[in-house]
Amino acid sequence: MPSPEKSAKGTDFLTTALTAPVSPAEAALRPLSFADFAGQPKTVERLQVMVGAAKRRGEALNHILLSGPPGLGKTTLAFILGHELGRNVRVTSGPVIEKAGDLAGLLTNLEEGDILFIDEIHRIPKTVEEYLYSAMEDFRLDIMIDQGPNARSVRLSIPRFTLIGATTRSGLLTAPLRSRFTLNTRLDYYERATLEGIVTRSCGLLQVDLDAGGAREIASRARGTPRIANNLVNFCRDYASEKAKGRITQPVAAAALELLEIDAAGLDEMDKRVLRLMAEHYAGGPVGLGTIAIAVGEEAETLEEVHEPFLIQEGYLARTAQGRILTAKGYGAIGLKAATGNQQDLL
Ligand SMILES: Nc1ncnc2c1ncn2[C@@H]1O[C@H](COP(=O)(O)OP(=O)(O)OP(=O)(O)O)[C@@H](O)[C@H]1O
Ligand SMILES: [Mg+2]
Repeated sequence: MPSPEKSAKGTDFLTTALTAPVSPAEAALRPLSFADFAGQPKTVERLQVMVGAAKRRGEALNHILLSGPPGLGKTTLAFILGHELGRNVRVTSGPVIEKAGDLAGLLTNLEEGDILFIDEIHRIPKTVEEYLYSAMEDFRLDIMIDQGPNARSVRLSIPRFTLIGATTRSGLLTAPLRSRFTLNTRLDYYERATLEGIVTRSCGLLQVDLDAGGAREIASRARGTPRIANNLVNFCRDYASEKAKGRITQPVAAAALELLEIDAAGLDEMDKRVLRLMAEHYAGGPVGLGTIAIAVGEEAETLEEVHEPFLIQEGYLARTAQGRILTAKGYGAIGLKAATGNQQDLL
C-alpha cells in the first residue's frame, strides 16, 4: 500500500519493485474480488468463512491480521474484504499513528462496520498500541486530555469497526496485540502455476500479446511474488514493443529478464552479491545480517524483508542461532561447490 513513509530504499529493480509506493499501473492490476484473487487457498477460505458469517449476522467482521513478505497480496485482500462486505476501507500505517490522539481521530471518524486497515502494524508506537487494545475489544477509548491539575480521562465510544492489520514482520508484534485478532493468517510465496495465471490475467488487462512460453518464463523468475510478476510483465511489455513487435514469447521474456539481471531462478544481482560474499569472504558463514548488509551496501532491514525470506524459503540460505549460513544450493546458485566446512553441520 502507498504508505507515505515507505520509500524505495535501494536502487536495484527488486528492491524498488517491493518497497516503492504502489504505482497507478499496479493499482490497475489489483484484483477486486475473491474470484479474481489467485492462490492462497487457506487464507482465502478462512476469510470467506468470516465474511459469510459476518454478513449472515449483520455484524462487523472480526479483526484480522495478515502477515507475509512484501507483494503477496495483504493490501489487496484488505480491499477485497471491504468490497465483499460493501464497507469503506480507511487506510493508515503504523508509524503514521504517533499519538493516542491520532488513533482517536481515526476511530471516531469510522462508521459502524467500516474497516480500518493499518499497514506495517508492527511499527505502531508502543504508547499508542495500548489504546488499541480497548478499542479492539470493547470499542471504547479512554484518553487523557489536558495536563497537570486539569488532566482528566475521557471515555470515547467508537463504532463497531474491523481492524485489519498487515505486517511483513509478524514476529515483532507483541503477544497482547496479536491475541486480539480473531484470525492471524500468513500469506505464502505463490506456486509457479498460480503466477502464470496472474501474469496471463495482467497481460489480458493490459492488452499485451503473450504466449504460454512467455507466461511461464515470467512466472518462473518472479520469486513467488505477484507484485514482481506484474513488474516483470510491465518491463517485458516495453521490451517486446521495442524489440519483438509487441509479442511476449519465451525467448523475448528471457532476453528482457536477462537485461534486468534476473536469473532463471528469479535471483537478482543483490541476492547473488549476498551469496558470493558469504562464500568468498566468510567461508559460507555463520555471518550476522548486519555484517552482510554493510559489506553489500544495502540496508539490513531491506535484506531482511525483501531478499532473505525468499533465499531462506528456497533453501539458498539458512538462519541459525550463530548467524546466516550458505547451503549447498546457495553455493550452486553462484557456480561454486559447497565447502566441506563445518557450517553444513549447523543445518
Ligand atoms: N492473489 C493475487 N492475484 C492476482 N494479483 C495479485 C494477487 N496478490 C497480489 N496481486 C498483485 O500484486 C500487487 C501487490 O499486492 P499487495 O499490494 O496487496 O501486496 P502487499 O502484501 O500488501 O505488499 P506490501 O507488504 O509491500 O504492502 C497487487 O497490486 C496486485 O496487482
Ligand atoms: Mg501492502
